[in-house]
Amino acid sequence: MHPDMKVELAGLVLRSPIMVASGVLGSSTGLIKRVSENPSVGAVVTKTVTYNPRNGYENPTAIDLGFGFLNAMGLPNPGYLDYKNELAELRDKIEIPLIVSIGPSNSEEASEMVKALNEVSDGFELNLSCPHTEKLGLEVGSDPEKVRRITASARKYTSKPLFIKVSPNVTSVVEIARAAVEAGADAITAINTLKSMAIDVNAMKPVLSNVYGGLSGRAIRPVGVRIVYELYETLRVPIVGCGGIYDWRDAVEFILAGASAIQVGSAIACSRSGLNIFGEIEKGIVEYLVAKGLSNIRGLVGLAHTS
Ligand SMILES: Cc1cc2nc3c(=O)[nH]c(=O)nc-3n(C[C@H](O)[C@H](O)[C@H](O)COP(=O)(O)O)c2cc1C
Repeated sequence: MHPDMKVELAGLVLRSPIMVASGVLGSSTGLIKRVSENPSVGAVVTKTVTYNPRNGYENPTAIDLGFGFLNAMGLPNPGYLDYKNELAELRDKIEIPLIVSIGPSNSEEASEMVKALNEVSDGFELNLSCPHTEKLGLEVGSDPEKVRRITASARKYTSKPLFIKVSPNVTSVVEIARAAVEAGADAITAINTLKSMAIDVNAMKPVLSNVYGGLSGRAIRPVGVRIVYELYETLRVPIVGCGGIYDWRDAVEFILAGASAIQVGSAIACSRSGLNIFGEIEKGIVEYLVAKGLSNIRGLVGLAHTS
């Protein structure tokens, strides 16, 4: 029997557990539409949109380290009001859930953005974890009280699924996630990038124009798996695993740790098979389920936990 790859995630029905992570495709709605046509993609998360437009940082903004990427794009985006029009057009054209990622710096911004974008989205992912933007992301997401307030403000204005994306750059990710869940989050996405830097030894200077950036890709997978495992031990909401997923084995590792769905980011940028990467990951998961005699991925979620 062919395993059923459909998953139910915080009220959304996804045809596959494989989602596109925020940001890696940029804010081009054309590209999002193309990716959404891939039958192995279950949902797409947009690039994070902020209250005010942002130009992003000067080059260099990204480097390939071989074992992962280091980036500090600076969240370039047209601002939520302009992006709303693009999203309205996009939403009519795609057949899978469109999760809108927002990066508010306070509760008021969170309320305004959710109110305005509610009609053009199927759910929200609150990016409280970008490691390289002042007054946004991690600066908000490392304080449980701020996380609680912002999550509650967003919750007030939407009944659609609300995902909170957490950062690995905190002492207790469980404490942050718990604050979000108590304030009404439906699910947790883990993880965003790790705050990092690289130095050019010839120039004797930091490589990135912003000095600090976020590390993604292969190198961070064990950190992501550990955090999903920790969250699964304490939370009763679905977890979406993200961080260095390049193939079906990586995806299954996250699912065994406790993820109900997974997101693919950096691997898209360096995939030799282009967008076929989603089909390859899905095929591998299906074969694994068949080999283990399972009819769907629900039976796999959290199986690595001993009790
Ligand atoms: C170029 C680039 C841009 C990103 N932009 C965003 C973003 O706008 N919002 C966000 O929440 N995460 C963003 N991320 C983080 C990814 O969504 C993901 O959490 C992280 O890269 C770990 O997954 P990966 O190893 O599969 O890339 C970005 C990552 C990269 C590499």
